[in-house]
Amino acid sequence: LQCDCAVCCRRENEPPLIKGWIPFLGKALEFRKDSLKFLLEQKRKHGDIFTVRMAGKDVTFVMDSSLYPYIIKHGRQLDFHKFSDKVSPATFGYQPVHSKLHPGLKEQIHRSFKLLQGDNLTPLTESMMGNLMLVFRHDHLGHSGWRSGCMYQFCLSVMFEATLLTLFGRPAAARRRTGTNALMDDFVKFDNKFPHLITEVPIWLLGGTRAVRQKLINYFLPDRMSHLTNILKEVSESFTQINNTLSPLSAYHFAMLWAALGNTVPATFWAMYYLVSHPEALQVVRQEIQEVLSLSGVEFSSDTNVKLHREQLDKLRCLESAIKESLRLSSASLNVRMALEDFSLRLGESRSFAIRKGDAIAMYPRTTHLDPEIYEEPKKFRFDRYVHNGAEKTDFYKDDQKLKYYLIPFGSGVSMCPGRHFAINEIKQFLSLLLLYFDLQLEDGQSRAEFDPSRSGVGILPPSADVRFRYRLRVV
Ligand code: HEM
Repeated sequence: LQCDCAVCCRRENEPPLIKGWIPFLGKALEFRKDSLKFLLEQKRKHGDIFTVRMAGKDVTFVMDSSLYPYIIKHGRQLDFHKFSDKVSPATFGYQPVHSKLHPGLKEQIHRSFKLLQGDNLTPLTESMMGNLMLVFRHDHLGHSGWRSGCMYQFCLSVMFEATLLTLFGRPAAARRRTGTNALMDDFVKFDNKFPHLITEVPIWLLGGTRAVRQKLINYFLPDRMSHLTNILKEVSESFTQINNTLSPLSAYHFAMLWAALGNTVPATFWAMYYLVSHPEALQVVRQEIQEVLSLSGVEFSSDTNVKLHREQLDKLRCLESAIKESLRLSSASLNVRMALEDFSLRLGESRSFAIRKGDAIAMYPRTTHLDPEIYEEPKKFRFDRYVHNGAEKTDFYKDDQKLKYYLIPFGSGVSMCPGRHFAINEIKQFLSLLLLYFDLQLEDGQSRAEFDPSRSGVGILPPSADVRFRYRLRVV
């Protein structure tokens, strides 16, 4: 018998393997500590394709975003759902929906993702607008004079409650505040452990996380749901059709809540932070919002509720650019595919690499987002980077080649986030209300907000510490 393990035997044409000296962990800790620095260092040493051993798994990184289309084209050999099916059930506590036990469920759930898009986006966006307004009015609009707050906490509490109301309605029994605050606290406890769960650390090693997760799942039992959005209704019906027990359905609902908030809250924070810390950008964006309102004949006054329809949100080009710019700076998600068989990964006419069945291929868009050859002064926030002459700017180049994948916070190909349009709209709505109703300032004596690198690979990075700010009702 000839040894063919990935440890001592590299097959012909495989990418260079970076193992690290700790047998099982490999390079996992170095990646966690500062993924961007680590990957750029490997790229300098080994070129733009290399394999890294991390926590017992071999992950082949493709560092050049102009090569992404080749990965996406290899859909037959490189599968996303194999990966999500492995990690999501263990993380959220439901059975794999792609298993042979439930034929057709996978397709039904994927069809239901369409309900977050197209014409269906309009009622969803309108509902979110009403709920954001409700939370702002209830919690923040009744006070005059300056108030202090912690910015991340502010974004979390507003977005959490408005999203919960929009997707699931009001819990039948609980009064608005009591139910939501306890749920949010549990959500945060779970979310803090999320990076461990997604890297398959067993839940029993994570203190009380299993109990917290069960509490969260139980919150979504059907009798507590007063008003599900169409997408969740359709998912519920799919589960009911396959006569599943109620627990996997409520676990799936909980996973949807996480998907809807896990990245949106930090993304909202960074968009708010960058605008508040760049008053000149904030002024331009505020003016754009006021102009869009007055073009539709609405005279803003702080006594009345604001409604921004989908068509009006589409016109907020500078605001959209500012949001995209903060996504570019803060996004650190890995887009992972699993190799279903041994195959040769062709990258253009003249290059190919041997890939083994079971290995992961990862695209890490952060390296593209911070590439100085694509973006001038890549670490700087420039609110108008994605707008040109009043229209969306889409031409970005590297080596004189126009790039298709220059901004990838929502993933790519089959695993692209189905909630991406809703996410942009709700962040626009949140910021519009904030800028219309309030004067905003950072409190003095704080250093610049930094990214918390411990969530590298998971999604939008949160700040390493919260930021204090002041806000006061504008007199209009
Ligand atoms: C998947 C990012 C907001 C629902 C994803 C993925 C990314 C992502 C990168 C793909 C994960 C992968 O390739 O492994 C984001 C960001 C958001 C956001 C940056 C906010 C700024 C939302 C919202 C919703 C949502 C608001 C729903 C209301 C989903 C779902 C999936 C997903 C259901 C799984 C898709 C599948 O299994 O094929 N998101 N997302 N996301 N997202 Fe989002």
